[in-house]
Amino acid sequence: MSQTSPTRTLTSAQLNELRSLATAAAEHSYSPYSRFRVGAALLLSDGKIVTGCNVENCSYRLTSCAEQGAIARAVAEHGPDIRLQAVAVANLNNAASMPCGACRQTLTEFGDDSTLILYPGEGGGPEETTLGELLPHAFRLEYLETK
Ligand code: THU
Repeated sequence: MSQTSPTRTLTSAQLNELRSLATAAAEHSYSPYSRFRVGAALLLSDGKIVTGCNVENCSYRLTSCAEQGAIARAVAEHGPDIRLQAVAVANLNNAASMPCGACRQTLTEFGDDSTLILYPGEGGGPEETTLGELLPHAFRLEYLETK
């Protein structure tokens, strides 16, 4: 499987909309323990957008990140063939936050090296990178295929 994709031409208006939807999704965050309210918005390859937020649990390790919630929802709503064009992550805490390590692996299942990742950076402003930059040498489905 190739990890390259056709060049994506998303306008800055589209990217800003995705960021706004991630921020709006964070309003629904269930985070009574960390009080860190996170939202994610996935832009699928067919142009559909799916959002999610973090959902915590008193058994802390059962917490679901915003990105994971959004992925589960996207598969439930649109089926197992979804592909990720871009992902925006936002929080309501005025903090930097890029996808955690586990979320990078989750996103890799449905994205590729060129999937755009939008996140609030440490400098306080919006930042942009790719999934390939965030998780190089990822473990991939193709490695499970027997030779
Ligand atoms: N969190 C996310 O939702 N996404 C990430 O990529 C990083 C962390 C959530 C999990 C937890 O509810 C809170 O942020 C603090 O870790």
